[in-house]
Amino acid sequence: MTSKELFRRAENVIPGGVNSPVRAFRSVGGDPVFMKSGRGCRLTTVEGRALTDYCGSWGPLILGHAHPEVVAAVQRVAADGMTFGACTEREVEFAELLRQCAVYLEKIRLVSSGTEAVMSALRLARGFTGRQKVLKFEGCYHGHSDGLLVAAGSGLLTAGVASSAGVTAGAAADTFVLPYNDLDAIRALVSKSGHELAAIIVEPVVGNMGLVPPLPGFLAGLRELTTQCGALLIFDEVITGFRLGPTTYGTLCKVTPDLTCLGKIIGGGLPLGAFGGRAEIMDHLAPLGRVYQAGTLSGNPVAVAAGLTTLQILRRENPYPRIEKLAARLATVFNTAARKYDVTAHCAQLGSLFTPFFTTAPIRNLTDAKRCDTAAFARFFHGMLDRGIYLPPAQFEAAFVSAAHTDAEIDQFCITADSLFQALEK
Ligand SMILES: Cc1ncc(COP(=O)(O)O)c(C=O)c1O
Repeated sequence: MTSKELFRRAENVIPGGVNSPVRAFRSVGGDPVFMKSGRGCRLTTVEGRALTDYCGSWGPLILGHAHPEVVAAVQRVAADGMTFGACTEREVEFAELLRQCAVYLEKIRLVSSGTEAVMSALRLARGFTGRQKVLKFEGCYHGHSDGLLVAAGSGLLTAGVASSAGVTAGAAADTFVLPYNDLDAIRALVSKSGHELAAIIVEPVVGNMGLVPPLPGFLAGLRELTTQCGALLIFDEVITGFRLGPTTYGTLCKVTPDLTCLGKIIGGGLPLGAFGGRAEIMDHLAPLGRVYQAGTLSGNPVAVAAGLTTLQILRRENPYPRIEKLAARLATVFNTAARKYDVTAHCAQLGSLFTPFFTTAPIRNLTDAKRCDTAAFARFFHGMLDRGIYLPPAQFEAAFVSAAHTDAEIDQFCITADSLFQALEK
């Protein structure tokens, strides 16, 4: 069956034909592509077309698809039993490795998704501080738990919903929302309501309104303000954890949060998330403390094996400088081509993360991001897809270079983008 036929079939049994909204291509138009397999940086569609992948399953696949060592670990461990709902040595080894990589993760608990990591970290922050309110930033996405589906980025942005139906007024009322990168606004809120704040949660580098790095001093400012008012600082590193170096972004930028949420890369392509931080806080979790948090498949042996092997490879091979260079070249060539053909676009890039934004204005927050010409992005997306390059199918997302990409794929991207811009000009 073709992708089109499969999608029609899917629409009959799955809402919108997808198990996660952005997969539906709603913001770029057309039918989603159904994948058959992936190897390295290459996807193969059900029609047998090869695509160079810059979506990387939305971030986890820093080693590319089906890395032989990760696959072997998964197969080996699966053969010994898929889940026990009991303790295993590998969970301990995994937590120890995470702590070695980011020393401030004094204690860590494993969960099965980024959403669960964030939801649990917030409950813990509330339990620890005895306060209710949380501050998040416009355009940051922290998974789909109720209180965080307010002014969220990613799929909510392209679907044009400010917040989800089904979220109670009470859940939303406990969440303050301010613009990202605006310390003055946060200072004003903290001086008025700081005593009510359990936590400030932030993507230290935002991936979910497209790539938006923090302005100098922003994260240090958050650290200072949270310490001042007794709120916890939570870094949601579901995208950034192990993406910009073999550690957390907090370690790289030398701002230590109280709690950190991880997901995506640390699961090596299987469902795994984690949250961790100061032992004094983490020890408020049951069974030691009164904050309840649990999971039948938490620390699942197969997911932990995939994650552990992925982190070991990343530490051993340190692909970061090489993939950063590849992404930087991609962005530079994109920007040169956009200028050459007078296309209103620029490519933001940090490490192996990048976003082709269809505006020339710099993007520091959601208001800036919303100025993008999303129709132009959609044309670019489909032009690239027609020529064998698969980007995340929405403007407000980060794209990813993996360790499986080489100069040849970056050349392909650059030549294709250049020829598309040239065609756009005419
Ligand atoms: C920063 C961030 N936090 C949390 C999540 C939720 O993670 P998951 O989709 O694994 O539940 C995402 C997902 O994209 C994310 O980008």
